[in-house]
This record gives sequence, C-alpha cells and structure tokens, in this order.
Amino acid sequence: MKKAAPPSLIKWTGSKRSQAASIASLFPVSSEDSTYFEPFLGSGAVLYYGIQYFQKAVASDIYAPLIDLWNNVKNNSSFVIQQYSKDWGLLQSSFPDYFYTVRDRFNAQANGIDLLFLSRTCVNGIIRFNADGNFNNSIHLSRRGMQPSRFSQIVLNWAQVIQKTNFKTCDYQDILKLVKEGDFVYLDPPYANSHNRYIKDLDIHQLIEFLGALNSRNVKWALSFDGTRGGKDMSYEIPKSLYVYKTLITSGNSAVQKVLNSSVEPVQESLYLNYDPPEYSVHDDGPEQILLGF
Ligand SMILES: C[S@@+](CC[C@H](N)C(=O)[O-])C[C@H]1O[C@@H](n2cnc3c(N)ncnc32)[C@H](O)[C@@H]1O
Repeated sequence: MKKAAPPSLIKWTGSKRSQAASIASLFPVSSEDSTYFEPFLGSGAVLYYGIQYFQKAVASDIYAPLIDLWNNVKNNSSFVIQQYSKDWGLLQSSFPDYFYTVRDRFNAQANGIDLLFLSRTCVNGIIRFNADGNFNNSIHLSRRGMQPSRFSQIVLNWAQVIQKTNFKTCDYQDILKLVKEGDFVYLDPPYANSHNRYIKDLDIHQLIEFLGALNSRNVKWALSFDGTRGGKDMSYEIPKSLYVYKTLITSGNSAVQKVLNSSVEPVQESLYLNYDPPEYSVHDDGPEQILLGF
C-alpha cells in the first residue's frame, strides 16, 4: 500500500514530502547499533520515514532557527502548540498586520517558533531571505493559517516520531566526524543553482570529496540531487565512480515555480546510492521511479 506523505510541520523549499516514502523505501537494512544521519534536514520529511528503520538518528542543518524548532518539538511540544495557537489567534484579530509583527520579531531575533508561524502563513510557505539575511516573504492573503486544533495533532505526531533523534546545528561536513561504518547517511543538499533560497550556498566539489570520504570508510549513503523540471535538465553530474545506482523519483510540482507565476511543471529528482538497493523493498512499498540502468 502506498504510504501517505509525512504530516507537514514546517513548509520548506525543496521539501521531499511527496517523495519521502519512495526515497526511504530504498534505504538499506540497518543493524542494531547503526545510526541514521541526515545532515541537510530542512522540514525533516525523509527523517519521518527514515528514523522508523533505525534505532537512533542524528539530524542536522546549518540553519540554527530550524534546529531550534526541532528541539522544541521534541522536548517541549506543548510550548510549540501554545505559541502557535496564541499567534494564530492574534493573526485572526489583527489580519494581516500581525504577520508583519512576527516577521519583524523574527528578523530582530531569529527563533524556531516564529519561523514555524511565518512558514505556515507566508505566500506559498516559501522561506525566502534578502541579501541582508532577513526573511522577506509576505503574508498569504487568501489563507489564514491552519486551525490550532488540527495543527496540534501534527506537532504531537512529530514529537512522538523524533524522540530518538539528536538534533544539531552544524555544517554537514562536521557530521562526518561522527559517522562510522554501519551507519547510514541520507543527503539532500540545496540545488546547485538555488542561490538565495537558503542561508548558505554549497561548494559541490567539497560535497563530492565528502561522499568519497564516506565511501572509503564503507559508509552507505543516499543522495538526492539535481534532476529535471518540466523537461528542463537541471542535472549536475556526480562522478560515476562514487555511486552504484541512480534512479529518478517523481516529486510534486515546484512551489517556487508556482509563486513565480509560471505554468506548473512536474519535477523529477535524482537519487544516487553507493550500494545496491534492496531487491525487494524491506520498507513496505516500492518507489515511484524510473530506472536509469546504472
Ligand atoms: C533541499 S533542503 C533539504 C530539504 C529536506 N530534505 C526536506 O525534506 O525538507 C537543503 C537544506 O540544507 C541546508 N543547508 C544548506 N547548506 C548547508 C550546509 N553547508 N550544511 C548543512 N546544511 C546546509 C539548508 O538550510 C536546507 O534546509
């Protein structure tokens, strides 16, 4: 049976929500002491399924307010629910001005609770920053944010799923120091051309070195990278010596394209594995995928 997308806690550009179950179905069988690592966490869509196949997890992202949110959901979910309900109520009585009060507060002192509220109420949920690093998306005028009673169920669901996850704010390369043979790493770095959508651009050559270092330590990894959008090839060749299997996974339509007012375009993203995927998925359902024969 096809698995549903994970519940949407925070909206995040590049979220793998629609592909998460397909991606995780290709993860290797874990041993008892192996740890799941996800160093480009974002909205945690893949973690939601990935963690269910491992005993423990380390999830990290370079963006501190995001990790602040994850730690709050894990350790203090009632506080997250309370703050969302309070902000949501204030937004209803002072619409749309209260959105900009929260945006100013966040830009003065970035934190996970305000980031969550902004992501749930801004235009198409797109987290976007200006050159000074300030969040600059506007309120989604035709939506007023999810009802707190419904949202609290999502927070509680996530809080339960992530209890065995250790969250860290750090550059993905720092995680390498913690990974040992038998562990598994899922990587979902920003697109090579996604300037300004995240806080920091990524050096692809360093990423490739990082993957090579994992290979030399016999660490299994899966990498989401590049792909095609509406027939436009956005691929970036990962050296073939690094991986043994590549597949294209169909995702939803690009949220960025939608907001740029273009026609909605289907997106397919590459998934590279440095191991042979399980012949029959050990994780319930098989992926929606196109095999490329590597
Ligand atoms: C494509 S998004 C990940 C999306 C995630 N898989 C999801 O489903 O939401 C890439 C993430 O990498 C983070 N990032 C960018 N550069 C980084 C770096 N050098 N180290 C760690 N994280 C980084 C961004 O903050 C962003 O959350």
